[in-house]
Amino acid sequence: MNLVEATRALQRRVRDTDADNIDRPGAVDLAPALRELLQIHAHRYYVLDDPVVADAEYDKLLNYLERIEQRFPDLRTPDSPTQRVGGPALDRFEKVTHPDPLLSLSNAFDEAGVHTWYERCRKTLAGSFGDVVPTLTVEPKVDGLALALTYVNGLLDVGATRGDGRVGENITANVRTIASVPLRIPVNRDELGKADVPGAFEVRGEAYIKKSDFRAQNERLAELGQKVFANPRNAAAGSLRQLDPNAVAERPLSFMAYSIGPATGDLPDSQIQRLQWLKQVGFPISEHVKMYEGVEDAVAYCRRWTDARDELDYEIDGVVLKIDNIEYQDALGAVSNAPRWAIAYKFPARESTTTLVNIVVNVGRTGMIKPEAVLEPVEIGGVTVSQATLHNEDYVVSRDIRIGDTVAVKRAGDVIPQVVKPILDARTGDELVWRMPQYCPACQTKLVRLPDEADYYCMSADCPEQFIRLLEHFAARGAMDIEGLGSKLAVTLAEAGLVQHLPDIYRLTRDDLLQLEGFADKKADKLLQGISASKKQPLSRLLFALGIRHVGKTTAELLVTRFHTMHELASASVEDLTAIDGIGVVIAESIVDWFAIDKNVELIRNLEELGVNLEEHQATGNGRLAGLTFVLTGSLSLFTREEATLRLQALGARVTSSVSKKTDYVVAGENAGSKKDKAVELGVKILNEQKLLEILDA
Ligand code: IVH
Repeated sequence: MNLVEATRALQRRVRDTDADNIDRPGAVDLAPALRELLQIHAHRYYVLDDPVVADAEYDKLLNYLERIEQRFPDLRTPDSPTQRVGGPALDRFEKVTHPDPLLSLSNAFDEAGVHTWYERCRKTLAGSFGDVVPTLTVEPKVDGLALALTYVNGLLDVGATRGDGRVGENITANVRTIASVPLRIPVNRDELGKADVPGAFEVRGEAYIKKSDFRAQNERLAELGQKVFANPRNAAAGSLRQLDPNAVAERPLSFMAYSIGPATGDLPDSQIQRLQWLKQVGFPISEHVKMYEGVEDAVAYCRRWTDARDELDYEIDGVVLKIDNIEYQDALGAVSNAPRWAIAYKFPARESTTTLVNIVVNVGRTGMIKPEAVLEPVEIGGVTVSQATLHNEDYVVSRDIRIGDTVAVKRAGDVIPQVVKPILDARTGDELVWRMPQYCPACQTKLVRLPDEADYYCMSADCPEQFIRLLEHFAARGAMDIEGLGSKLAVTLAEAGLVQHLPDIYRLTRDDLLQLEGFADKKADKLLQGISASKKQPLSRLLFALGIRHVGKTTAELLVTRFHTMHELASASVEDLTAIDGIGVVIAESIVDWFAIDKNVELIRNLEELGVNLEEHQATGNGRLAGLTFVLTGSLSLFTREEATLRLQALGARVTSSVSKKTDYVVAGENAGSKKDKAVELGVKILNEQKLLEILDA
């Protein structure tokens, strides 16, 4: 049995037994197995930097072991992974013994866990301080590598990794290359020569790589033909562990301070004031630290970050709650390797591993054929995932993803889950290599791959699958918005032969619908009402609904700023179309080609005869933002990019796709990449979504 299989087997056993009610024989059986496996995984993660399970899976097993050991303390062994903070230090660097161990954090996986923790703190404090409601700080938990930086007389003396918490590695030369780590702290002395900072103190914080830097670094590594990193955390760890500081200097490492370790002089007596002090003397600290009186609002803030974490340009895997008052912290103390006064509220992980059961292909409304992964269902970030995208043939082939593989699956925000890579160590040899089928699975037409495109297409105009997809799209929200006509009914209507062309929707009768299963008078009438109402949708909606290649919502909206009727648009030339800002040749040609097809002209004529509206008279904006040019980049979460575009345009702004000196503002959403970099380079102002919203709502 290989490592991944062994892990799966253990995960199954863990899933079937409740750690808090486990009986002794069960615990005696499970604990050593868990310990051994966790040690192997920890070694891969901390030392080899090559994990084969997702962090959350590891955390879950570790948490389970901790609970067993709590129930049967005599089963705890000194070498249990619960008894240490991280992996052992590598031999290549000199070892440093931390004067005060760098502790780990206990985890809460849900809000109840935070409440329980807080109440326990209050109970413990009650003995010495009475019934207090301790103030909390909440800080993002940056997912990087813990560092301890010792300053002597204001100068950076030693930079060390955490190692196992007690002994780390001396990586001072590497730490010095991190631009955000101050090499010297300003020291002011009074008349007696007494300094205003302690003679020696240790700053603790996290070394990490920003998401944007990570992408750029991977691109560079790939160009050089070197191994790319799986995620920013691995990139930070791998970069810092290089023996040549010059090579480290080329890596885009950042640092964020979160606490002060041992110090020889006086320091402020609350966490928040210490952070402020750190900031004042030159350390980067999080700009998102908040203070709360009591736990309720703190928990609300934690919850907010679960969704908002994508807005940050660095990875966070949770938020850390700390009792703010240092006197309280001291009174609470620590258990084995974690302080009692802090807890990490961990987000549900968004990456996991599972088995790729099969690869199927789907036909889209434009005939595009997409491979899709059928997965052994797996829970990722609170959602059960059983399908994931594989993008296209090249994606599968270049990553050597095979049917039967154990694969890493990622779900980011509301993005469709995707298969990231196969876990090669889990290969048994029974996996099957997959290739794109040659014929359309729906109509058996030979598939073609267009030059310069990664996708295959079914070019048949009569492909039933394509039509079903088109029908779904036509009726969808944002398009004609026909309530009650979803995917399921689209299939039923098409298969029953009731709707064979789009105009047939508007020919449906009550009797037609009543013959369908599940349709009674009321439901039929409601659908017919919805269909009828959709006839009044503005032209831009209809244009989008028709599924013309490259005509998305925004393009459709742009088109109607110039062409107010379908007939005007139908007779437009490529030149007429490209005269619209934001419409390029590819889109223009696609539109002209579409109207050149007789069947499409007939389709429009039929829709018109059936009473569907073919007009839209938009006021062209000469508003508040006239003369300003915006570029939107990254994914937005407060509104869709289309909405943002339309709202900006409605106020008279221009929205273009590339950044130049003429650009006034770049709105950077999640994972903004090269456009944001370009903006920085050109000195173009960068706005976040919140700012954009303020401008729009002003
Ligand atoms: S407090 C003594 N604060 O998380 C308390 N840790 O899982 C331990 N981390 O080793 C440190 N952001 O590397 C603290 N704002 C933050 C943090 C943070 C990230 C890391 C740190 C620690 C690990 C524990």
